Amino acid sequence: MTTESTPQSLESEHTLLAGSEWWRTAVIYQIYPRSFADDDGNGIGDLAGITKRLPSLAELGVDAVWLSPFFRSPQKDAGYDVADYCDVDPLFGTLDDFDRLLAEAHDLGLKVIVDMVPNHTSDQHRWFQEALAAPEGSPERDRYMFRDGKGPNGDLPPNNWESVFGGPMWERTTKADGTPGQWFLHIFDKSQPDLNWENPWVREQFRDILRFWLDRGVDGFRVDVAHGMIKEAGLPDYTPPAEGASMGGAQAASDVTPLEPVIQDSPPDPPYWGQEGVHDIWREWHAVLAEYEGDRVLCAEAWVDPLEKVALWVRPDEMSQAFNFAYMFTDWKAPALKRVIIESIAAFGAVGAPATWVLSNHDVVRHASRLALTKDSPQGAGIGPKSLGKPDPVIGLRRARAATSLMLALPGSAYLYQGEELGLPEDMELPDEARQDPTWFRTNGEKYGRDGCRVPIPWESEEPAFGFNSTGASWLPQPAEWASYARDGQIGVPGSTLELYRAALRLRAENDLGGGELTWIKGYGRNVVAFRNGDVTVLANLGKVAVELPVGEVLLASEDVTGGALPRDTTVWMRVSA
Ligand code: NOJ
Repeated sequence: MTTESTPQSLESEHTLLAGSEWWRTAVIYQIYPRSFADDDGNGIGDLAGITKRLPSLAELGVDAVWLSPFFRSPQKDAGYDVADYCDVDPLFGTLDDFDRLLAEAHDLGLKVIVDMVPNHTSDQHRWFQEALAAPEGSPERDRYMFRDGKGPNGDLPPNNWESVFGGPMWERTTKADGTPGQWFLHIFDKSQPDLNWENPWVREQFRDILRFWLDRGVDGFRVDVAHGMIKEAGLPDYTPPAEGASMGGAQAASDVTPLEPVIQDSPPDPPYWGQEGVHDIWREWHAVLAEYEGDRVLCAEAWVDPLEKVALWVRPDEMSQAFNFAYMFTDWKAPALKRVIIESIAAFGAVGAPATWVLSNHDVVRHASRLALTKDSPQGAGIGPKSLGKPDPVIGLRRARAATSLMLALPGSAYLYQGEELGLPEDMELPDEARQDPTWFRTNGEKYGRDGCRVPIPWESEEPAFGFNSTGASWLPQPAEWASYARDGQIGVPGSTLELYRAALRLRAENDLGGGELTWIKGYGRNVVAFRNGDVTVLANLGKVAVELPVGEVLLASEDVTGGALPRDTTVWMRVSA
């Protein structure tokens, strides 16, 4: 044990501006429909499967669910390539299935958020097919980002931008007579052409799409690529900084003494991310949501740096929440975590918005693996059979439990990703032939991509596909050892990860931690994150040495703390005696 005493001096205090909307404090559970529950047994999850499993989420204690896209789509990017925003893909069911899901969720007291994908459509969308068929310079072409190529015959792409999934960000079209035509921009796969958001027609279509879903009763939208929809005028060439240089201050400054303000130099935004013009769109969308009664949420997926810039997405007349990716990617080091928490609360609080914490989603290595990696793994690269620095699963799970226990004690909103409540790790051994992520194909296997966090989740250890369905089919193979993570082996079992999540969610609600304020506590050393939220004391020991606990009642512990010591990689919530 350390020799440090445990005085609880007030070091700093942060206040979130008051507001009563449900989403300010909500815990929102991300459902990835293809991998949650499969009612028809074809190996791909569906809406009817989700509806049947919703009671388990009410039992878990979350406030809302976010559904990743289930719209009509050729599924080139797992549904993030939408061919019809106002219909359900037959793979997932029908609009009636959606209505049943929504009604059942509302009956259970769960809000429902759907995933809007406005930056790009599928190349199979009617708008794009019409644009391809229309002449250059036509209004149909102006819905997308068509440009002439460079070079004498237009053989070169209009600029040097590289797709997020690898390869060029431009694809050349072929004219009706078979000769090469203009190029079109696609930030992601070539099957995902970018829309032209400078075009008022595009804006009008999406206002109507929002109303279509709001009329059905959805409680809001998660907005895909909310930072990419406006491009810098002239589409200038761009050379990104070396990998890692733009990951935000949180990682880079992990050795900085906490609570000292650190001025971050962040590299200029690429000409396709974070352009000022996106904010006009959010003001328009905000106004559409305001046409409806009740609190509806807009949550931005905005990969921009630094946090002060992310906060611009959630000014009072724009969106409600923005995922805190700086927090997600902070190293498992106490000084860095303290600093990113302080900066987040300050940045979002300055515009009256809640901080929106998140540790896992369908695009990143699951945090039960990520937190124990011993080598950097850039976002999207994934971990596969040949990766170096693979995590120790025991350390990974232990850290994940501690990290979630810390996150759920923070004021603001928090997102969970399906399966993390079971302690699921990344599947790092997927065979190459099973892979589906376009990243894998566009980088010729150089990057594994995101399939490892998307494997269907286990419900019952003895059932086919671990209860994902009744046939045993699974669009990505499930590792045999996932039987030991199945929900039926954890429910009601003291100490299981599922019971830890349930207890944390119950206590978070009972103590209104989501609506609380943080008071930092000194005296536990630089490897412990220590604060009070209301009268709950939270201590997370990220160091190697156990720390003495104060006297009081233990409310929640991510590991065994009997004996009065807080071991390494452990978080505890306490009611400390006066
Ligand atoms: C972000 C989504 O989360 C990701 O899964 C998708 O591939 C890209 N946007 C493109 O839509």
